[in-house]
Amino acid sequence: MSSDNSTGLVELAKRRGFFLQTAGAYGGVSGFYTFGPEGAALKRNIEDSWRDRFAIREGNMEVDAPTVLPEPVFEASGHLDGFDDMLVECPECGESHRADHIVEDRTDIEEAESIPVTEVEELVAEYELVCPTCGAGLAGQAIEDFNLMFETNIGPGSSASGYLRPETAQGIFIEFPQLAEYARNQLPFGVTQIGRAYRNEISPRKSLLRVREFTQAELELFIDPEEDEPALESVADVTAPFYPASDQTADDGEAREMRIQTVVDEGIVGKPWIAYYLGIAKQWYDTIGVDMDRFRFRQHRSGERAHYATDCWDAEAEVDGDWIELGGFAYRSDYDLSKHDAYSDEEFTVFRQYDDPVTVEQPTVDPDMSYLGPAFGDDAGAVAGAIENLAARNPGAFEGENVSVAVDDDSYTVPVEKTGFSVEEVTESGKHVTPHVVEPSLGIDRALYTALDHCYRDDEVDGETRSYLALPQTVAPTTVGVFPLMDRDGMGEYARDLATELREAGLSVTYDDSGAIGRRYRRQDEVGTPFCVTVDYATLGEARADADEAAGPDTVTIRERDSTAQTRVAVEDLAETLTALRDGRATFDDV
Ligand code: ATP
Ligand code: GLY
Repeated sequence: MSSDNSTGLVELAKRRGFFLQTAGAYGGVSGFYTFGPEGAALKRNIEDSWRDRFAIREGNMEVDAPTVLPEPVFEASGHLDGFDDMLVECPECGESHRADHIVEDRTDIEEAESIPVTEVEELVAEYELVCPTCGAGLAGQAIEDFNLMFETNIGPGSSASGYLRPETAQGIFIEFPQLAEYARNQLPFGVTQIGRAYRNEISPRKSLLRVREFTQAELELFIDPEEDEPALESVADVTAPFYPASDQTADDGEAREMRIQTVVDEGIVGKPWIAYYLGIAKQWYDTIGVDMDRFRFRQHRSGERAHYATDCWDAEAEVDGDWIELGGFAYRSDYDLSKHDAYSDEEFTVFRQYDDPVTVEQPTVDPDMSYLGPAFGDDAGAVAGAIENLAARNPGAFEGENVSVAVDDDSYTVPVEKTGFSVEEVTESGKHVTPHVVEPSLGIDRALYTALDHCYRDDEVDGETRSYLALPQTVAPTTVGVFPLMDRDGMGEYARDLATELREAGLSVTYDDSGAIGRRYRRQDEVGTPFCVTVDYATLGEARADADEAAGPDTVTIRERDSTAQTRVAVEDLAETLTALRDGRATFDDV
């Protein structure tokens, strides 16, 4: 689709059943979309293909957690405090807007989200920015932090607050102790989840690209940061444009095409696991129809990163002239598991067994209370505790005659011989590790919209302009349209039976006998159906000759969407031929 044609895509999406704004009969509701028959099928196919690539082929587990979680989960995760966007209200019309988006839209400044609120207020005044709805000046308006979570009550009354999840990830983190057991406490292991997430976006826009309810496909990979490395070989040669944070702020910085192995070797992507999944994601986005000439990986600038991330790369695609985030690849370190460990009643660690037990020196103390009691009175217990802490932290402090410890603001000096300090040798079979988390978090709605946008084509067929969606056959909503040339002389019955047979073979089939055959092809082209099969008089002739042993098999034509080329195929091989075409085991030229 051309760079300014999003209106056309939204119109096509509604007319042909991809997606439409929800509750149109009630005036529509901003930020919510309903997927129609074509859209629901396309979405399901994209989800299945994500599941195949990120869960099944990587050996990761999949879970399915609730979309409502209790408040303490989001206190621990930091979302209650830190999951905010910048809200500015128009003093004239009262409309709410995202202040950082207004700055980005009306100036050359990019990623204004990474700029502190007070500076954004200054920019609004400096550039004399106005309300996008009514044009009133916004200078001097306060910008507030607006929390994006939808709040609800769990059960009657208001005692138990809950929130619709703003990311699927927390549903995985809070079950970590059990999930680690399912993984036999062996790191690394990955847990995926695909499902709805909710954000009360200040100003939903660009159709499916910024909505209030959307589908995330997330993987939380739990690793031991000191031990686990990815096997990079399988993606080492994958290349993509990389746009590191340092290049974004440099005058002449731009994205550079590089191999995954190179970005790891040169430290451009600091975490090899992130690079590994960037490689997989690049391959995956290609398979669902995202144009690789309008694709890049961009690193977050420091102010832009979410509260949990120490590094983050986004997969971005150009849509309607803007770069939009398709997925985020964050290094969440031990942030989430440590928080849930501290806030909940369970331990969020795994016990990592050493290959061979190791002997370590362990400092211990046994303070002489018959000395500390008379010497320090009420503070004796606290002094004993401080001695124990010091031994664990800094055993070297016990090398002299006396040792000093602090309790509150007072310092106490104790003879080392009264601390009972000694160093014992103990054998350890392993250690408790709080895993670090690597998170590829992909948005399905944005992927779907981008695939539609990038696959939209116009060409000329038989002197007429045709529009078609060049969706990859693996994700196209329907694999094959089955038509009779006309619904007469038995061609209709034959084609309907054939459609049933193909459906029974597991293919997604649409049957159409209305209108001229050319128009039926165009209808399927427009929704991206990669193949059409037509039953014609030749098919009927062959069917009637079946009694004659010398007669060959019945044949039908198969037409390929993109080239519009046609060829005849034996009906008895049709299901297998189409399945092989759909699964990429054969090309149309092979047929
Ligand atoms: P943005 O900066 O565009 O708001 P984000 O950085 O908040 O996105 P993440 O928190 O990283 O997004 O969420 C992971 C993925 O979920 C995104 O890459 C995107 O594909 C999807 N996503 C997030 N918010 C929305 C939304 N409002 N509408 C549609 N998809 C979304
Ligand atoms: N799980 C990443 C995010 O949604 O913020």
